[in-house]
Amino acid sequence: MKRIFSGVQPTGNLHLGNYLGAIRNWVQLQKDFDCIFCIVDLHALTLPQDPKELTGQTREVTAAYIAAGIDPERCIIFNQSTVPGHAELAWLLGCLTPLGWLNRMTQFKEKAGKHREEAGLGLYAYPVLMAADILLYKATHVPVGEDQKQHLELARDIAGAFNRRFGVEFFPLPEPQIFGACTRVMSLRDGTKKMSKSDTSDYSRLNMTDDAAAIALKIRKAKTDPQPLPATEKEAEARPEATNLLGIYAALAGVSFAEVIQRFAGWNFSDFKAELADLAADVCGRIAVEMKRLMADPGYIDGVLKRGAERANAIAAPVLRDVFDLMGLLRP
Ligand code: TYM
Repeated sequence: MKRIFSGVQPTGNLHLGNYLGAIRNWVQLQKDFDCIFCIVDLHALTLPQDPKELTGQTREVTAAYIAAGIDPERCIIFNQSTVPGHAELAWLLGCLTPLGWLNRMTQFKEKAGKHREEAGLGLYAYPVLMAADILLYKATHVPVGEDQKQHLELARDIAGAFNRRFGVEFFPLPEPQIFGACTRVMSLRDGTKKMSKSDTSDYSRLNMTDDAAAIALKIRKAKTDPQPLPATEKEAEARPEATNLLGIYAALAGVSFAEVIQRFAGWNFSDFKAELADLAADVCGRIAVEMKRLMADPGYIDGVLKRGAERANAIAAPVLRDVFDLMGLLRP
């Protein structure tokens, strides 16, 4: 049986990368698989958060999931801190994870930067919590954007370490699902940098709450190079901004990158940007309107999360009980 688990941090500025790299793929997967989609609020705490904003952003990510087309009846939608098993399993798995494995994590190095000594233990242990998220449900598949690949490899290593240590085939090794025309959406201001929630320039990203006017303005201002659009994929390779905008178009239109190259070969950027802005405003604008409608009813959102937490707990609790047994922790 295939079970899918994935999540987004409620750290504000949910953007097109989160949508194209992850959420949109989940909408497809929910038709055929047992899906659990989490708002990973404990992960958000690895960097300082304003408590009030964190609450609002948790509701906002929930609204985004639903507005994008995830059905809260069919799928489980919940926020991580409502299922205590995540933190518990993270501790247990942390006791089996060598520091050397965590020292390899590039995201910690990027986020801690020069201030490694001041970085929190949570930021360092973050990938272990992520492994716990997935393994707590014995999830088999994890649809994410390209940037999460290394964390997923670690989750597989931790699952394998647990199974070997206790001589069981208990945790399945979770498979990353990295697919779609745009698995790594880049910044609109710099085609070599990932589109990110934490970029100081709001012009670097299309936020999921942006309206049509904001989308058009950001696309118009997006960085480009002086040449007309490339005619072949080979030609596009050395042109990160062109590749990014064409990739976004392909993903939003639901066609291949090759088709988009063929269609816009030789166009100038300003004409292409006008087409891209219309398409993005159409797809993202619809989601933004629906998000706004949902956000106006926090009672509904909280109800979805509460029911999701009950359903998630019902799956997690027996798995955690088995882990306690395997590790010899007495439950009198
Ligand atoms: P987060 O919140 O940074 O991002 C959520 C999802 O969006 C994808 N993503 C992107 N995809 C393409 N282009 C981009 N520029 C881009 N930026 C973000 C991410 O790959 C991710 O799929 N650690 C995770 C959250 C998490 C998780 C989990 C995911 C915690 N536990 C268990 C899967 C399973 C994170 O910080 O995602």
